[in-house]
Amino acid sequence: CGIVGIVGHSQVAPLIVDALKRLEYRGYDSAGVATIENGKLGRRRAEGKLINLERRLKEDPLEGTIGIGHTRWATHGVPNETNAHPHFSEGVAIVHNGIIENFAELRDELTRDGYAFTSQTDTEVVAHLVARELAKGLKPVEAAHKALRRLSGAFALAIMFKGDEDLIVGARNGPPLAVGHGDGEMFLGSDAIALAPFTNAVTYLEDGDWAEVRRNSVTIYDIDGNKVDRKRQQSLSTSFMVDKGNRRHFMEKEIHEQPEVISHTLAHYVDFVSGVSKPLELPFDFARIGRLAISACGTAYLAGLISKYWFERYARLPVDIDVASEFRYREMPLSANDAAFFISQSGETADTLASLRYCRKAGMKIGAVVNVRESTMARESDVVLPTLAGPEIGVASTKAFTCQLSVLASLAVRAGVARGTISRDEEKRLVRELSEAPRFATQVLKLDEQIERIARELSRYKDVLYLGRDTNFPLAMEGALKLKEISYIHAEGYAGGELKHGPIALIDENMPVIVIAPYDRIFEKTVSNMQEVAARGGKIILITDAKGAAQASIKTMETIILPEVPEIIAPIVYALPIQMLAYFTAVFMGTDVDQPRNLAKSVTVE
Ligand code: G6P
Repeated sequence: CGIVGIVGHSQVAPLIVDALKRLEYRGYDSAGVATIENGKLGRRRAEGKLINLERRLKEDPLEGTIGIGHTRWATHGVPNETNAHPHFSEGVAIVHNGIIENFAELRDELTRDGYAFTSQTDTEVVAHLVARELAKGLKPVEAAHKALRRLSGAFALAIMFKGDEDLIVGARNGPPLAVGHGDGEMFLGSDAIALAPFTNAVTYLEDGDWAEVRRNSVTIYDIDGNKVDRKRQQSLSTSFMVDKGNRRHFMEKEIHEQPEVISHTLAHYVDFVSGVSKPLELPFDFARIGRLAISACGTAYLAGLISKYWFERYARLPVDIDVASEFRYREMPLSANDAAFFISQSGETADTLASLRYCRKAGMKIGAVVNVRESTMARESDVVLPTLAGPEIGVASTKAFTCQLSVLASLAVRAGVARGTISRDEEKRLVRELSEAPRFATQVLKLDEQIERIARELSRYKDVLYLGRDTNFPLAMEGALKLKEISYIHAEGYAGGELKHGPIALIDENMPVIVIAPYDRIFEKTVSNMQEVAARGGKIILITDAKGAAQASIKTMETIILPEVPEIIAPIVYALPIQMLAYFTAVFMGTDVDQPRNLAKSVTVE
């Protein structure tokens, strides 16, 4: 979810909607705004995309120079108007991101006290809790503080009071919240991008912080009510709203940006001219660590999985990798002498952040491979390893993924040199090979007509299987993830060798099998898997290069022929056709490509 608050001097409802547009990537199930005008609380809410709320506000505008707003990704309660935020209780209005874990207990207690619940959300308990403190005679700020002390879970909140038109209380315990400083006006927002049109002077609240935000002052307290000092900083976010250019969707635009952003990202880490890694200050020495732990979610996790092959192959550095939600709880032995990398486009994903903190506690050195430089993960790491993908708006990650791969591949080379497993000559060769990725990516983009044609065919099926070996195994999983996310076609990614241990039972003419197989050391093994599929009447779509196509000697439904590429950049280059396949298939299915149902770009709940 995304939250906004403004204590301003002009009409705030349109400004809040503008800020919510920048936060829509955080959820788009429903949205709402509340303001206070002449001692009266008003609210408009709407199910679905922000555009519905805008329509509602046009028919029935909201006046007021103070207000809060919300765009929702449902956790408790279906996404309808009743469950949409802001939630009210007797002169208190609240917007919330996260989960109140003890809400059931609080709801029982408040129900006993006579508070009636109108929604199925966990948020409403906070509104009633604050209202109950107000009813006992506490002032708004004290009432909010008292209520906050009762909450457990991960949350960011903005609270507004009918009785005080110069006050919004913001609180953070988990999901990010920033205060924006204006001149005679103040702002609260889930991130600096939301606040960028209003101000670049921001203060990030830390966990446990809460803030009294007024037109001319901001006071930040810790959970015990002691004033705390938090640095005001200049945000780098621009008020410039990213647009689609002449593309139909952000996803399409972002797929096409890849040659350029991969090149920028690589150039940050390696020197294309001299063929060596650029100086980089790391808080650990690759030569001295025994192991690298990597954790991430979704597509970022699959980038990490590919890098495991690289770190182990090129640097002989063992990698432990898991999805963040498992990593954190599986009690693996961690050593303070090792390093841990966290990969995240947003730098805010709750599970990844939790595992970052878990590793920090264990004394490990922390590297954050993030796309948002001001994110919580960036701020809490020892070294920020940026991807230079630029803002990624499409919920399904594309350019962030290939930029993550670019960072990780160049780090694996660096690690290899440090550990003596790669000679200086080999380093030069690998850097030169990396530098070729953008050129090959450009060539692959030109295959769009063929891929679109295949996608039209693919959109007729209900299930798709992706197969690959080595680094193409995680890529097969990424292909399946991309397809299911945006086209809602069921898809699975398997290691080629695992075909015979289960998924082969599903093979028939109704399940196309997409095989990702550049001509490499193990190409022959993958050909055997294709034969197993063909023998059972399965239809094969082979993604390979000219050599592979010549050697496969198998009848395929379609063969996509990519340029022959060096091994180290194969996953980067082969990522493009699988993204394009998913994209065009979703377009044929008529789904909401950039904002697929039920998903959100930045998931700040565990
Ligand atoms: C969400 C998105 C995925 C993304 C994952 C991790 O689930 O839908 O596309 O890969 O979060 O996001 P992060 O910002 O941590 O990379």
